[in-house]
Amino acid sequence: MSIRRKEIGLAIVGCGTVGRIRAELARAYPGVGWIGLCDLKTDIGRKLEKDVSADFFTTDYKELLTRPEVTATIIATDENFHFDPTMLAAKQGHDLFIEKPLATDARQSAMILAAIEAAGIDAVVGYTQRFRRRFLAVKEKLKTGQIGEVHSVVTRAFMNRMVPIATTRRTQDRATLTPMVVSGTHSLDMSMWLMEGKTPKSVFAQSTDVCLGGIGTKDSTFGVWTMTDGTIWSMSISWALPEVWPGAVYGIEIGIVGTEGVIDIEDTHRDLVMATNVVQGGGYVPDGYVAPARHVDFLTSYPPGDLHDGQLWGPMREETNAWYQRIHTGQRTPHATAADGHRNLLMTMAMDLSAKRGQPVELPVDPEELMRELA
Ligand SMILES: NC(=O)c1ccc[n+]([C@@H]2O[C@H](COP(=O)([O-])OP(=O)(O)OC[C@H]3O[C@@H](n4cnc5c(N)ncnc54)[C@H](O)[C@@H]3O)[C@@H](O)[C@H]2O)c1
Repeated sequence: MSIRRKEIGLAIVGCGTVGRIRAELARAYPGVGWIGLCDLKTDIGRKLEKDVSADFFTTDYKELLTRPEVTATIIATDENFHFDPTMLAAKQGHDLFIEKPLATDARQSAMILAAIEAAGIDAVVGYTQRFRRRFLAVKEKLKTGQIGEVHSVVTRAFMNRMVPIATTRRTQDRATLTPMVVSGTHSLDMSMWLMEGKTPKSVFAQSTDVCLGGIGTKDSTFGVWTMTDGTIWSMSISWALPEVWPGAVYGIEIGIVGTEGVIDIEDTHRDLVMATNVVQGGGYVPDGYVAPARHVDFLTSYPPGDLHDGQLWGPMREETNAWYQRIHTGQRTPHATAADGHRNLLMTMAMDLSAKRGQPVELPVDPEELMRELA
């Protein structure tokens, strides 16, 4: 069997936390040649350019994405700013990696998916948790029918409120920066991936905003989905846990019940606890924000992975390197597709719409209708 080797000319738009991680791994990946970077903030971009010995830096994504060296693009801008660079990269025919959510406007998300499909390019979305060994093991058991036909699923996500504080500080445009759209999307993607083949039919959800309403978002959204085959699925998230909660970022539990068995996933990170007099930092801490002292930490609760010797180890490393393998050699990988990303956005917004109306919402739901009522 001959394996193709296509040298990658890589553009990264957005040099913040995640853009930096992916750029550092690109520099260490043998199939990546030319690297170009873009960020609106010159200081952040120039620092990364120096740290990874990038070949090019600009503050204008158009200048980067139209360079002849570029064959692949990573969109790592903040949630509200994926649309413009993604559309241009699709037009240029690049292999694409887009951070979640695909967009924060359902109409823009539909346009991105249509542009990707029209261009016939390979595009994936950053649902990093798919690259964890435990979830891959569960996926394999489900795929090979080890618990029979799945009929009941329950998903619960708990998050430290430092994430919504950091997310809402980045923009005044917060109408769709809800717990489901920004963060619940990870556990929704995981649940839908594990339930592959099932089609959502309707959802009834409720939300509360007693803690975080003041910063323009909600605390929690709990919903019950029905699938076209009758499967019921409870999907709930709260991202309003206090800053002192030992989970630095994210913890989930998923129970999957089938006709022949059950799989019960405990992924709260309570199996690795550190308590210390030394104050611990947060997972995502915005500039100028002083969090209350945390003395207890569930280690490994930072979703991208963990630092050792100045390097990140864990799912985001696996996910990023697997993408470089995918586009360098054509290897199969479990990345979420752009169609998965679009579906996830519509489902998270359908939960917000149901909560807003106080009524069940039937799917499929029209992106125009979602934005008219939610934005
Ligand atoms: N997969 C995961 O586990 C995971 C984890 C964290 C964040 N994310 C996602 O990754 C994305 C980036 O998050 P982050 O934490 O790195 O944010 P960040 O704020 O650290 O970085 C975003 C950068 O994009 C830049 N930017 C914004 N608009 C731009 C534009 N038009 N042109 C050039 N640069 C622009 C900003 O200046 C900033 O430096 C978000 O979509 C986020 O939801 C994914």
